Amino acid sequence: FTVVVNGTASHPVPETLFGYMFEDINFSGDGGLYAEMLMNRAFQQVVPGTSSALQAWSAVNGAEISVVNSTSPVSSALPNSLEVTIPSTASGAVGVANSGYFGINVQESWTYNASFFFKFPSGSKFNGKVTASLVGLDGSTLASSSVDVRGASSTKWTEFFVHLKPSKTAPNTNNTFTVTFDGKEAAGETIHFAMFSLFPPTFKGRANGMRMDVAQALADTKPGFWRFPGGNNLEGQTIPQRWIWNNTVGPLVDRPGRLGDWGYINTDGLGLKDYLDFIVDAGMQPIMAVWAGYSFGGTVDAADIGPYVQEAIDQINFVIGDPSKSAAAALRASLGHPEPYELHYVEIGNEDFFATDTYLDYRWADFVGNLSAAFPQLNFLATTMTFDPVLTPGPKFYDVHVYNTPSWFVENAFVYDGFERNGTKYFEGEYAAISTNANDLFGTPADGRFNFPEMQGSAGEAAFMTGLERNSDIVFAASYAPTLQNVANFQWTPNLIGYDAENVFLSTSYYVQKMFSINKGEEYLPSTLPDATGVVHWSVVRSPSTKQVFIKVANAGADAASIAFALPFVVSTEGSMEVLTGAMGASNTPQAPNTVVPKTLNFKAGKSFTFDAPAFSASVLTLKTE
Ligand code: AHR
Repeated sequence: FTVVVNGTASHPVPETLFGYMFEDINFSGDGGLYAEMLMNRAFQQVVPGTSSALQAWSAVNGAEISVVNSTSPVSSALPNSLEVTIPSTASGAVGVANSGYFGINVQESWTYNASFFFKFPSGSKFNGKVTASLVGLDGSTLASSSVDVRGASSTKWTEFFVHLKPSKTAPNTNNTFTVTFDGKEAAGETIHFAMFSLFPPTFKGRANGMRMDVAQALADTKPGFWRFPGGNNLEGQTIPQRWIWNNTVGPLVDRPGRLGDWGYINTDGLGLKDYLDFIVDAGMQPIMAVWAGYSFGGTVDAADIGPYVQEAIDQINFVIGDPSKSAAAALRASLGHPEPYELHYVEIGNEDFFATDTYLDYRWADFVGNLSAAFPQLNFLATTMTFDPVLTPGPKFYDVHVYNTPSWFVENAFVYDGFERNGTKYFEGEYAAISTNANDLFGTPADGRFNFPEMQGSAGEAAFMTGLERNSDIVFAASYAPTLQNVANFQWTPNLIGYDAENVFLSTSYYVQKMFSINKGEEYLPSTLPDATGVVHWSVVRSPSTKQVFIKVANAGADAASIAFALPFVVSTEGSMEVLTGAMGASNTPQAPNTVVPKTLNFKAGKSFTFDAPAFSASVLTLKTE
């Protein structure tokens, strides 16, 4: 059959069409994008005296260690400290070690920034050195730096800063960060420590910044937006454990951290301003969520909602407010960013179909009413199902989520074609083909759940995405979810990008996202519609500014398909194509990370040409126009 392309664009493609949904899940913030290398660096939210309070920490050479809150703390946000007692019989290097987020990547070419707070008890006569080191599995010192310390003049919290420059790259990531004393010099001393930190070089060199390789993989898709901070991880397991913006800004010692919704403690080192700076650094814009009165463990009553609406107003003012009019904006200015950040979209809650009654009765109206009055220039997104329930006031923007089978995505590539054009816009805020088992979508891998994206799912998502492009007059943004996964410890599969302490693994779905995003074009060109019940789908966009046409073809079926294209305008006789194809169940895994990667080929183009779409594939054909 022949696909006839219309030379007149039907609508512009939104700048925001393809981007990312981010929340701290799967150690995606702490232990992932956020470059801090030490786990449990500040003993946040742990129970002193327990062994779990020492997660990631161990004693070096016979030191006695425990987490205590009996000493005056380094800050009111960080009540706990690490107490280290050097035995009176000690000799050699004695102290503590941290094993990082499932390993520590030691590279010869990097300079690491290490720091910690320490204090001695009054009356200490200690006069010696404290040493920070990177240590290999075999005990060899890969980098180290010491400073002279006098116990008598260190009875108040003192911060120690040092650069660590490894003498060689470690053969693996089974390394530790240690802080030690000479046992003989420090014998019998008890020293308290707080707020340790170890940073490698970061993305764009930001202090307290992002892990370079993970951030680069994200930036490489030229994403249009960054949805944050959740997801379930916005909501909190209880109301006090919700994500609270002002607990995530300012000096790290003033951030208490919280138990996240995905079962591990969030340091909040990756805080509101850190997100905003990364959004700028990666060329995105935010879709920022505010907490909307619902946690897993309870919902705020209508009579009590006022302070939480104010909390949301303050959060928005932190991002865009005028420092002369708003304390939150003045705080932003005091942190070095007097000018507002870019912000157009604010999402009210997350998946509020889990508490539909209260969203319908008062939460939506209270939040959207007050926030719209305070910020009439912003667009507010509802997080229920579209038009179910019918909310008042009627939302102008919806965030829609869908996790389903590969075939669901193919069968629903036309889902937005039937939507009324009445001014309402849609954000496909979370979607992924996660299982082959429609009856147990969130079940185990034994039941059909994907460990990693598989080519059948990625081809299905590509088919669905051609529909998002076609309907990008009403779909203004879309993001696969979840985005990141530390393969050493995670709560959800599949995910777009995996990593361990050293490597990044790009999935088949990542390549689909990248192919669509970097070739999203500027305007949509209508063409002969695909068969809505078939497995082969396409969409065509044009970029007048670069004189390019991009044709995306998804084949989610087991047979190759031949498609003729007829274009009404002059194009180059040579085109280039990027083709991602693999077996139905093919997957990029940590063991075989490059099983399926896109191939780039040239092809004979012109005003008419034929393209053979391989089975289970996603392709982008690029043509030059005049
Ligand atoms: O993406 C994982 C979870 O799926 C999100 O936290 C939540 O919004 C959805 O249910």
